[in-house]
Amino acid sequence: MALGGFETYPEIVRRLKSGDQKYLDLGCCFGQDIRRLVTDGVPGEVLIGSDLHQGFLDLGYSLFKDKWTLKSEFIAADVFESRSALTSLEGSIDIIHASSFFHLFGYEGQKKIARRIVQLLKPQKDSLLVGRQVGNINAHEEESSASGSGNMFLQNVDSWKQMWSEIGKETGTKWKAEAALEDWPMVGNKVSWHKEGTKRIFFSVRRL
Ligand SMILES: C[S@@+](CC[C@H](N)C(=O)[O-])C[C@H]1O[C@@H](n2cnc3c(N)ncnc32)[C@H](O)[C@@H]1O
Repeated sequence: MALGGFETYPEIVRRLKSGDQKYLDLGCCFGQDIRRLVTDGVPGEVLIGSDLHQGFLDLGYSLFKDKWTLKSEFIAADVFESRSALTSLEGSIDIIHASSFFHLFGYEGQKKIARRIVQLLKPQKDSLLVGRQVGNINAHEEESSASGSGNMFLQNVDSWKQMWSEIGKETGTKWKAEAALEDWPMVGNKVSWHKEGTKRIFFSVRRL
């Protein structure tokens, strides 16, 4: 379970339990992290999941058997589309979670996602992005059949901070980007993208 592993998790749960803040899980897949938040006492009404594939959202309902009880909204949308079902959420989200998501794309793709996140978050202090993904001690871009987009940029702490510094300058906004690389017990298994230097990177980006 991804979300529960974040340092910011108690803050996220506290803020969302108040009932007046909104959370978006970008690339939520089956929406498992949304269900984790509900289990931890967050009202489902403040949670929104979004994924490219409607089929994954439907499978989430089948898996958790909660189509008629879960109050959260799920939206099928491509994060790269400037006009989509996400458009109505612009400027209204307090916390965005994006796990195993940025790494599906190259550096320029990741910057496009970051700019979309700036648009979606409330333009106010403490708007927050959290997530984790595959990273590498040496930040680099590589071709990858696993990513779907054909390439993936593997971030380290410095490149992550650098990207958010660029995003801040380009959008006229200020962010405190933090990240940490952690060992990944799965590394060593025969998975194509587990190359030398592979780590997991956990991050948070907070609007100042
Ligand atoms: C590797 S999964 C991560 C799922 C979940 N966040 C997790 O950590 O387990 C990446 C998800 O991103 C979604 N995705 C890929 N490209 C997307 C896009 N352009 N817009 C929105 N979602 C996308 C995929 O459908 C998939 O569900």
